[in-house]
Amino acid sequence: MNLVLLGPPGAGKGTQAKLLAMRWGVPHVSTGDILRQAVKDGTELGKQAGPLMAEGKLVPDDLVVSIVRDRLLQPDAAGGFILDGFPRTIPQAEKLDQALARHKRPLDAVVSLEVPIETLVERISGRRSCPRDGSVYHVVQNPPRREGVCDLCGAALVQREDDKPESVRTRMQAYAASTAPLKGYYGKQGILHVVDGVGAPEAIEAAVVQAVRPRER
Ligand code: AP5
Repeated sequence: MNLVLLGPPGAGKGTQAKLLAMRWGVPHVSTGDILRQAVKDGTELGKQAGPLMAEGKLVPDDLVVSIVRDRLLQPDAAGGFILDGFPRTIPQAEKLDQALARHKRPLDAVVSLEVPIETLVERISGRRSCPRDGSVYHVVQNPPRREGVCDLCGAALVQREDDKPESVRTRMQAYAASTAPLKGYYGKQGILHVVDGVGAPEAIEAAVVQAVRPRER
């Protein structure tokens, strides 16, 4: 399954990508996670991306396109992948299509997770992440066993820098201006599936699987 998950900040792309990647045994490729790791490691990419991400702005297309191209050529992605947070602009989608066409492995489906704005804000404000292993929690919906501590590795949980209200506003605007038009782009290709992103994560996962079923291998 070659799948793209679309949706505004907090729609649950990362949560669904993890569940689906486990179900299908394919890698979860998150450009947000790759960029956050680069910032943490202090690489050249991280130095360029970090300030933009903190403000909630998009990182330049050429930077993310080359990251994804390289990642999809890794052997573990040969049997499929779940893309989370990429593409985010029409030029990124065009570059992705070109790269996949060269390798004769086009996208099977694009799923857009639809969530009302009040729910997005509530999810983002309650999100806590583990800086060590990347686990994601929510203070109410999915709390860790011990408050503020990662269940898996015991590290202190943190709030993402771009989850502050000013950055969230910028991210929502970037989604509306640059990413939402991708629904039209993939709609024209006949591979867009719109799924209600409200409900228990497992119920949403089942709805995604149902939506893309004809192409599930
Ligand atoms: P990225 O990390 O991709 O952030 P995002 O798209 O804003 O998405 P989020 O991670 O906020 O939300 P999500 O939809 O994954 O939701 P989650 O599952 O965590 O990108 C960050 C930045 O990197 C960008 O702003 C940009 O600067 C840069 N960037 C990345 N890709 C780029 C690209 N292609 N081009 C240019 N720049 C790029 O869930 C959110 C919360 O809700 C969690 O607490 C979770 O536990 C909870 N939750 C999830 N599902 C449910 C549910 N069903 N019910 C209740 N709670 C739920």
